[in-house]
This record gives sequence, structure tokens and C-alpha cells, in this order.
Amino acid sequence: MKKSYTLRAEAHFESGEVDAQHRQLTKAMSDLRRRIDRYDDARAAEELEEFIQYLNSYFLYHTFTEEKLMFDNQYPGDAYFEHQREHKSIVLDLLKLMEGETPRNHLRITATAPKERARQLIDGFEQWLHRHIEDLDRKLLEFLRTKGA
Ligand SMILES: [Fe+2]
Repeated sequence: MKKSYTLRAEAHFESGEVDAQHRQLTKAMSDLRRRIDRYDDARAAEELEEFIQYLNSYFLYHTFTEEKLMFDNQYPGDAYFEHQREHKSIVLDLLKLMEGETPRNHLRITATAPKERARQLIDGFEQWLHRHIEDLDRKLLEFLRTKGA
């Protein structure tokens, strides 16, 4: 689980990479959901902390991939900024969580027990991601297809 992702401005991505990262994010969520059921509270608290760090790092890497594709393929400004704004709002939630504070945008995490907190994080993130993929990411991928990227 402990991986870090290097951001390189010269990196070249293809649209297939975005789908692969979405699958990776979805899989990480369902893996955590399965694991958390088996843990006691102490182990769940540890796992949750590690997972929040992983999600922060991997999701930032993911937004970099998409935003680099937008930039490199001259994605229209309005759509670019709207998409970037949505990324930022969930990134801010993840940063708040990492700092032990309460997220303000999409992740409604009210529980104090670690297992329940983990479930709320998974549910909230999955809902956000699903909506985001169906709407802004779908538009981006359709655009990239027309560019052959
Ligand atoms: Fe996106």
C-alpha cells in the first residue's frame, strides 16, 4: 500500500492510462472495504491512516495525469477549469482528512469509530468518483478520442 508517485512534467500519458487509474482506485476501495470488516478497531485505525495517505498520493497523481492530458491536447479552457475545480474540491477533502480535520466538500465523515470512519470514506469517495467519471471524465475521454490521444 505504501507507494509514492513521482510527478514529472515531461511525462506522456495516453487516455487508456486514465481508465487504468480509475480501475486501480475502484479496486483499492473494494479491497479496503473487504479488509476492514475483518479488523478490530486498533488495526482498522492504522489501516485507515495508511489508506488516507495512499489515496492522497494516488489521487494527486491521477489528477496530474488527467490535467496533463487536457493541457497537452488543448482541452477547451472552460471545461479544463471546471474539471480542475472538481479535482481540487475532493483533494481538499483528502488533505483535511490527512490533517485530522473534517472535510467540507464531498466526504461526510462524522463517525468516530475507525471502522465506521473507513466505511464513510469509502462510500463518500466511491460516490464522488462514480459521479465524476460519468460526467466530467466521460466528456474528457470523448474529447481525447477525437484527438486520437
Ligand atoms: Fe477527472
